[in-house]
Amino acid sequence: MKHRSNAFNINLAPFVLKPAAGGLGAYVSKINVESISDLDFQFLYEAFLKYHVLFIRDQKLTHQQYLDFAQRWGEIVHYPFSKGVPNYPDISEIRKEPSDTLNFGGEWHSDSTYLLEPPVVTMLLALEVPDAGGDTLFANTRLAFESLSPGLQNMLEKLRAVNSAELKRLGGRRDFSLQRGSMNHANLDRAKEVEAIHPAVRVHPETNEKCLYVSMSHTSCFEGWTEEESKPLLEYLQTVITRHEYTCRMKWEKGTLGLWDNRCTQHLAINDYGGSRRTMHRLIVRSEKPKASIGKKAFLKGSFRG
Ligand code: SIN
Repeated sequence: MKHRSNAFNINLAPFVLKPAAGGLGAYVSKINVESISDLDFQFLYEAFLKYHVLFIRDQKLTHQQYLDFAQRWGEIVHYPFSKGVPNYPDISEIRKEPSDTLNFGGEWHSDSTYLLEPPVVTMLLALEVPDAGGDTLFANTRLAFESLSPGLQNMLEKLRAVNSAELKRLGGRRDFSLQRGSMNHANLDRAKEVEAIHPAVRVHPETNEKCLYVSMSHTSCFEGWTEEESKPLLEYLQTVITRHEYTCRMKWEKGTLGLWDNRCTQHLAINDYGGSRRTMHRLIVRSEKPKASIGKKAFLKGSFRG
């Protein structure tokens, strides 16, 4: 796995780290994030930059401890489409009940790419997991970009992509979300207003690596292209991003704190545990405007604070 050179040699880290696959992802154990020192946090951060997805086992956190840990990664971003848990509006409950058929996050995507400054980090704390199933898949969008021909890379680097919160290909956010009945939804009727244009290829500001930044879930079209014209290329790129060799399949346990880098990954929550409950507490952290590799800036078409 290619990664930047740095001052923190992960082999000396004060926790146990086990890579999950060749392309990205690692399990971390023997660490308590609630009391992690600044130095140990630096090691964890280096592991995050190297593996992009970390699943930290055996965490017991109150809502406040969870928020405090998340704030070490940057400012909390409010997720506009969830009301949050009582007294903690920024902690969204991702819940699927035994009777529900659809799950949250069941399509490949990077989180909230329809915001002008999408969150860098997403965290999920697993409260209840099914006996079997309920894993999450992740894909490395840097490896996907690097696998493309120079011709296609050059073309994509000049493109910007229109990202919408409306979930158009899934029938619209309102109707789609109401089928996920156990979630505490908010602002469903305002999703159409939330749209941002970002570079189709973004540069990761900490590793300088170029990563694809489009998805079939949130990208409606390339700027200046029709949706019909954009769809075949978006479908092709989604196929490349999700090639097995660029993915990993991460397993949850009760008390796992999962966190990932939305700048260089996509993910999909597998919906294969009908009849069981799965409950996660989710935080999104640190707004960052995606940076283009050839100097174009993202701009906002519509936005609101939920
Ligand atoms: C998400 O898309 O943020 C949720 C992923 C999951 O529930 O595994």
